[in-house]
Amino acid sequence: MSQFGKEIRKRWLLDEDVAFMNHGSFGACPRDVLVAQSEWRNKMERQLVKFITVEAPPATTDALTRLGEFIGAKEKDIVFVDNATTAVNAVVRSLMPKFKPGDELFTTTHVYGAMRKTLHYAADVTGAKVVEGVVPFPIESPDQVVEVVKKGITDKTKFAIIDHITSPTALVYPIEKIIPLFKERGIPVMIDGAHALGMLDINMTKYGADFYTGNCHKWLYAPKGSAFLYVDPKHQKDIHPTNISHNYMTGFKPEFEWVGTHDPTAWLSVSAALAFIKEIGVDEMRRYGHTLAIEARNMLARSWGTKLLAPENMIGMLATVALPGNPTDTDKHTATLHDRLRDEFHCELPVIVMDGHTYVRISCQVYNDMSDYERLDAAIKRIYA
Ligand SMILES: Cc1ncc(COP(=O)(O)O)c(C=O)c1O
Repeated sequence: MSQFGKEIRKRWLLDEDVAFMNHGSFGACPRDVLVAQSEWRNKMERQLVKFITVEAPPATTDALTRLGEFIGAKEKDIVFVDNATTAVNAVVRSLMPKFKPGDELFTTTHVYGAMRKTLHYAADVTGAKVVEGVVPFPIESPDQVVEVVKKGITDKTKFAIIDHITSPTALVYPIEKIIPLFKERGIPVMIDGAHALGMLDINMTKYGADFYTGNCHKWLYAPKGSAFLYVDPKHQKDIHPTNISHNYMTGFKPEFEWVGTHDPTAWLSVSAALAFIKEIGVDEMRRYGHTLAIEARNMLARSWGTKLLAPENMIGMLATVALPGNPTDTDKHTATLHDRLRDEFHCELPVIVMDGHTYVRISCQVYNDMSDYERLDAAIKRIYA
């Protein structure tokens, strides 16, 4: 796989002196996709009104059709939104009028913070309660997540958000086993697949979730501000964007197409992102990133004398690693760890707190290689010496 690593990194704008191990937070857009976005933007600015009103709508449909083919969804069942937070808000706020005091909104303790707060907002407004199933960390098997969800569902559960890949702990949840637990009880479930699009072979038809969102700007390489929302046809008439605009009550697709004036070029560039990921090889990219994630986290854990936190079948191209001595979030080094790694050692990656302990999360993209994680290893050993 010699074309990956340093060689392919030239196709990004990333600073050469930084070991960039945080594709997970905001992605990183390749030059080719940025060029495509600039072309769209130039076209838009040359004949603005015609572009927005006449040219952008069919181009959006075209991009959604290509995306739908990639994720096993019909174009009519998916819409573009700016990010996963927008998608989750649209769904939660649309369903919210049905929630009553005492109802339970279920998620797990590894949920992304913004989605937890969205559920709390719905609970605050309606008197419902947020219930979080406690998923152990470290974890030994995906079935442990299934058990936690099974135990967490009650007669009062009215809605659930389940991560496909968890943000703080980088775990791939077995959603194929989890979704049916809700479906058989008629409880609507939304999957937050912010990290899953691009990293995993996702398929809306196969999953049968009520709602699914994925960010195109993370592992699919699209420009920032591009994500999709899938809604099962049976719910589409009930789901509205959080911004109510001109197209209110004209149908699921038109309502999400116009939520106010907005630059559509990130959405339109999803076609270029799909072309890019296909050109480098979807399977090859996933295999490279997964193999690197396993190799890098094993090397770091060995070097730092810490235990592995998850089995290989719960890891994609992202892994969380325990720091030497498994420090708590009050440890003297951890408060400034992220900034020190960035500023003193030129290592960019998130420092994560979970259950009172501090971890680092590594992303493993095609532009990374072991030298990035070796730099991290040396930096952490200096800091914790
Ligand atoms: C599980 C999960 N959901 C959502 C997001 C972020 O979504 P947004 O693009 O809305 O900021 C992240 C970001 O890392 C995430 O890990």
